[in-house]
Amino acid sequence: MNFYFIIILLIILTINSSEENNPCLNNLNKFYNKSSICLFIDEENNHLWCSGYYGHWKNNSTSIKSLTICNWPELSLNPEELVSNFPNIKNLIIANSNLTNFSSTFSPAKYLEKLQISETHLEIFPKDAFKSLTRLRILDLRNNSLAKIDPNELNEMMMLHHIYLAGNPWKCNDKSMTWILNMTSGSLSRRIVDRDKLHCSIPFEGRPLVSVIEIIMQLEEECKLTICECELVYVVGRIGRQTTKQLMAFSSVNCSHRNLTEMPKFIPTNVTTLRLDGNKISDLTPLVTNQVYRQVLDLYLDNNVIESINQLESSYWLENFRVFSLRGNKLTDLPTYALENVLLQSGNAVSIYLGDNPWTCDCLFTPGFQDLLISYTSLVKDIHDVKCHTGHIDVLNKPIRDLTRTQICITNDGEYFIKPIDMLNIFLASMIILILGKVIYDYWSFKKTGKLPWLVAKMP
Ligand SMILES: *[C@@H]1O[C@H](CO)[C@@H](O)[C@H](O)[C@H]1NC(C)=O
Ligand SMILES: *[C@@H]1O[C@H](CO)[C@@H](O)[C@H](O)[C@H]1NC(C)=O
Ligand SMILES: *[C@@H]1O[C@H](CO)[C@@H](O)[C@H](O)[C@H]1NC(C)=O
Ligand SMILES: *[C@@H]1O[C@H](CO)[C@@H](O)[C@H](O)[C@H]1NC(C)=O
Ligand SMILES: *[C@@H]1O[C@H](CO)[C@@H](O)[C@H](O)[C@H]1NC(C)=O
Ligand SMILES: *[C@@H]1O[C@H](CO)[C@@H](O)[C@H](O)[C@H]1NC(C)=O
Ligand SMILES: *[C@@H]1O[C@H](CO)[C@@H](O)[C@H](O)[C@H]1NC(C)=O
Ligand SMILES: *[C@@H]1O[C@H](CO)[C@@H](O)[C@H](O)[C@H]1NC(C)=O
Ligand SMILES: *[C@@H]1O[C@H](CO)[C@@H](O)[C@H](O)[C@H]1NC(C)=O
Ligand SMILES: *[C@@H]1O[C@H](CO)[C@@H](O)[C@H](O)[C@H]1NC(C)=O
Repeated sequence: MNFYFIIILLIILTINSSEENNPCLNNLNKFYNKSSICLFIDEENNHLWCSGYYGHWKNNSTSIKSLTICNWPELSLNPEELVSNFPNIKNLIIANSNLTNFSSTFSPAKYLEKLQISETHLEIFPKDAFKSLTRLRILDLRNNSLAKIDPNELNEMMMLHHIYLAGNPWKCNDKSMTWILNMTSGSLSRRIVDRDKLHCSIPFEGRPLVSVIEIIMQLEEECKLTICECELVYVVGRIGRQTTKQLMAFSSVNCSHRNLTEMPKFIPTNVTTLRLDGNKISDLTPLVTNQVYRQVLDLYLDNNVIESINQLESSYWLENFRVFSLRGNKLTDLPTYALENVLLQSGNAVSIYLGDNPWTCDCLFTPGFQDLLISYTSLVKDIHDVKCHTGHIDVLNKPIRDLTRTQICITNDGEYFIKPIDMLNIFLASMIILILGKVIYDYWSFKKTGKLPWLVAKMP
């Protein structure tokens, strides 16, 4: 190794050593990123910089106070062995590595004050990995692959007041990180310097951890007031500069198969999807009267006993829904005109399900209903299951969309459908026959007995 070369490197490094966050992304790394080598980069503080294996370093390692390890080539690293090589170490940096786990704890490092593990693939560390580091003041775990941390691992470390955790794919959709909301004095969460910079991984990719956990905990509290299952489905907000206020939550509540006879009186706030399948609900009035349903966009009411949705006419809910599923109910007709109006004006509606209901097929309701089905074929997702249940024998069990007008009207009229006007005609005809009969009887009676009919006799 050329002596002058190292001197030049040292100069370059002093310039770059302010780049404290990325201890490996410096010029030294560019030269040695493929090799195993150790160099002093700061003689005064006995700072040793290693790329790859440190093992061959056999110089006076007890004097070394600071150690940086870059490009560690293995998936695992044994801290016990490392520290036994450098027993007096105060400042340890492990960075730029494919490391995913440690194979032991850091227990022998009794002088360690600052530990930084950055830009690695660290996903997990053994139980009590850091617990015996009684002097540790700074723990920097930024830019790794950690999904969760057990707070008990770090809680009792009294000297540890600066913890950095940003740049990890935190798991937000279970309870493993709820401790982050505990801000009582002395809590772990208070010691996390970059608490507001923590972000979630899939499915809430990039959303701020603290806000998402807050939303989830609130949903859980509210869910306890129901008999349903609740789930946060989606959180929107601008990536980068989100604040709690900019986040919008979309939750889903599943109250299916709960033997409900009416719609729940309470559902958590910000619920957009509500499943009420397989209950015994007949009345949809709460959709109009109960404010909690205003934000429900997707409503599933399959396999209930709903006979009518007439109450919903011109309601806020009907004008704003996105999915409305009414399969397997007891609907015989619909407020066709009102529904058509809504679909014409609202840009929200995406899906309607109307199949497996006992639809009436007659000349009064069906033509309008069929027009609606045909105009909104793409909305009525189960249009082939919308079939006649009552009506003329020719149309029974046929999809309403495919019927001809003749099938719907003419045959029906001719067969057994008696309109009010027909009843009136029959009534009038029988009156005429009755009066004629009376006249004939009166004539016959006059001829025979000479008596005038009672009415004529009374006339003046
Ligand atoms: C973590 O990554 C970000 C973005 O890539 C970078 O700005 C920051 O300096 C890194 N921090 C550490 C400690 O590696
Ligand atoms: C190592 O450094 C060389 C020279 O700068 C660079 O071209 C190469 O991409 C680096 N390799 C890695 C794995 O960083
Ligand atoms: C190890 O120490 C010896 C003297 O003690 C020195 O000559 C040598 O350069 C050192 N090795 C390195 C890699 O610095
Ligand atoms: C090793 O380091 C210790 C403490 O810094 C020092 O007292 C001792 O002289 C060093 N020994 C050698 C051989 O460099
Ligand atoms: C990490 O893994 C990648 C892909 O397998 C490889 O290219 C890279 O050289 C590895 N880095 C180190 C420091 O071993
Ligand atoms: C991580 O390492 C520890 C200690 O060697 C081991 O007990 C644990 O099973 C490892 N975890 C994973 C996920 O590999
Ligand atoms: C909050 O943290 C404190 C201190 O660590 C702890 O004593 C307390 O039990 C925690 N509270 C909850 C609700 O977890
Ligand atoms: C929840 O809904 C209310 C209005 O009902 C809204 O003001 C609030 O911002 C929503 N919260 C979230 C997190 O979306
Ligand atoms: C809703 O809950 C019911 C009963 O608990 C379950 O069978 C069903 O799979 C759930 N549906 C969804 C979409 O989670
Ligand atoms: C609903 O009622 C049926 C019959 O009464 C019963 O078997 C079932 O366990 C009930 N389901 C729930 C969720 O209460």
